[in-house]
Amino acid sequence: MLPSELVKYKKNSKKIIALTAWDSISGSIAEESGADIVLVGDSLAMVCLGYKSTLPVTLENMIYHTNAVSRGFKKSINEHPLLICDMPFLTYQCGEDKAVEYAGKVIKNTYAKAVKIEGAEPEVQDVISRLIRMGIPVMGHLGLTPQNYLNLGLKKQGEDIENKEKIKRQALTLEKLGCFSIVLEHIPDLLAKEIQENLEIPTIGIGAGNFCDGQVRVTADLLGLSEKQPPFCSPIISGKKNFIEILKQWVESEKSN
Ligand code: KIV
Repeated sequence: MLPSELVKYKKNSKKIIALTAWDSISGSIAEESGADIVLVGDSLAMVCLGYKSTLPVTLENMIYHTNAVSRGFKKSINEHPLLICDMPFLTYQCGEDKAVEYAGKVIKNTYAKAVKIEGAEPEVQDVISRLIRMGIPVMGHLGLTPQNYLNLGLKKQGEDIENKEKIKRQALTLEKLGCFSIVLEHIPDLLAKEIQENLEIPTIGIGAGNFCDGQVRVTADLLGLSEKQPPFCSPIISGKKNFIEILKQWVESEKSN
């Protein structure tokens, strides 16, 4: 699927499901679960590399993990989920030329068909517009933007009128610039609803209620594997606890043999 084809989902009221992946096992699990999109999110910094935030992850890390994810796909390149790679911190904040070079590396060296970029400050808008003109599809990301946590923290965004209006304006701007879809993270449900209704491109929510055109989840959070669970993602299974219990039993039975 090409990124531009996602808009058909919205037109046909077909819900979009995106799951994150960080290696070939999580890639194959996400694909076989039926996800439409597999996002190699920079959350892999915490989920798989043990960092405390997304800031330390590098472009090389993202390319390496994106390739591992696609090696886990079983379906042919035209049939596997739409693969999207996050642009990590400082790969698009240092000017348009660098952003084209770095996003270009992702597209040239992986099977990702698009990149995701956080925020919509004027400098980021210029970058997004240039990338799209240069043939690199961009998914936007508004609301809680973890790469900006040193300024904004990790709290819910869009709760006061000024911030709410800003996010609404930014969403419209990203659509105008040519983003094919926007992730809305940790914002009030009704704000997500207004944005969803005002855009032609699909909105994909996480911690943004049920009115979005799709949902995205960090697969490790959903499976209860993460060290620190975000308040807006309830796990559907206590994965880590269950794995530890069952492995403990195996270790003990082996030791007693
Ligand atoms: O990095 C990530 O996993 C993300 C999702 C939370 C959308 O950006």
